[in-house]
Amino acid sequence: MPTKENLAWQYYRDFHLYAGDLYPNQYNYIDCLRLAEKTFEIKRLAAEKKSHILVHYYLRPEFHEIAEKLGDSLALSKYMREVQAERVDFQAVFFMGATAKIIAGNNTRVFVGDSPKVLGCSLVSGTDHQWISAWKRENPDGILITYINSDTYTKSISNFISTSRNTDKIIAHVARKFPGQKILFLPDKFLGQVMKIRALRLLEQERIKIDPDLIEIYKQPFGGFNACCYVHEKLGRDSILVTMAEHPNAEVMIHPECGCASFCMYQIEQNIIPADKAFFLSTEQMLRRAETSPAKEFIVATEPGMLYALRKRLPNKIFIPVSATAHCDFMKGNTLDKLLRSLREDRLEIVICKNCADCVDPKTPYEDDRVIHIPKVIADNARLGIEPMLSI
Ligand code: 13P
Ligand code: SF4
Repeated sequence: MPTKENLAWQYYRDFHLYAGDLYPNQYNYIDCLRLAEKTFEIKRLAAEKKSHILVHYYLRPEFHEIAEKLGDSLALSKYMREVQAERVDFQAVFFMGATAKIIAGNNTRVFVGDSPKVLGCSLVSGTDHQWISAWKRENPDGILITYINSDTYTKSISNFISTSRNTDKIIAHVARKFPGQKILFLPDKFLGQVMKIRALRLLEQERIKIDPDLIEIYKQPFGGFNACCYVHEKLGRDSILVTMAEHPNAEVMIHPECGCASFCMYQIEQNIIPADKAFFLSTEQMLRRAETSPAKEFIVATEPGMLYALRKRLPNKIFIPVSATAHCDFMKGNTLDKLLRSLREDRLEIVICKNCADCVDPKTPYEDDRVIHIPKVIADNARLGIEPMLSI
């Protein structure tokens, strides 16, 4: 067990070495000493409360250091299915914590660091329930595939939930299982376009022909909402082209939520970008690709939090962010102080309530500064779509 001072020096060295360009002037030695002290206290309290700390890659480096499990949205969800923990402190955005609670049910208490408003997501706020209801009325046999980046109510009225790692496989699965039926994927327009093309390719390999128009991506053509991730939208075609021109030998790893995703897919199809040089990957798949690829240099098109994990795991390889400043304010709404408060005061807990009188509107269930409710009927319906996500 290192001393606080030793841990502070380790933080100081690693945060500068692997993330100095991502968080300039943010980690002096005194900051690192404070973080080291909080780390000791968090570990002590987590052991006392038998809590597992789960962390998404987009969080600050100090969270990577305290994680029992660091992962992408699918890996963290799968961990929830397997873990036999009394308590989990889920350090990510709220929809991920809520999904974790729905998977765990009453076996595990799940805590988050702040309210859904602070730990939000532009995809969640870009989803229009009224529009979805109208679509369902117009397409009574239609199948709704909803990205995990969505609120619990939307999940509860969906047939399938997917993540950045398996949306293509889930669209293909639905097309096979429900031939001729209309499919709507929502809410991410960038990811949706890429995954639709990939799903059609999967089906083509199996010689299954389907009308591409049966797969609709949630996108209003004339103004209105166009849901996307406000962070990945910034990683558009110009920024990726400039970074590629600056690093012509680098392999390119693109999160499918990126604004440049369809453009890059088109360039790959036209052989302008060689197919063995650019890959669409979830955050966790980026780690695996970098580990196994013979390339030494990688352009990384995603939220910069991921760069710390890549550089620390593979210090002999070079990782270049398309943007070092495109941080997600929602993910970065988590702090060690908030986690300490959760552990000390047992808040904020996500609770599945028995459709209580306080939860009058299922779209906005009850919350205060200690608990956030998910009505049982909503959790049960959402779970039906989440379960296939964990196995497809
Ligand atoms: P992952 O599925 O890669 O974790 O992505 C989640 C997310 O919020 C990306 O913006
Ligand atoms: Fe949502 Fe984008 Fe933040 Fe992910 S990075 S949580 S998609 S706003």
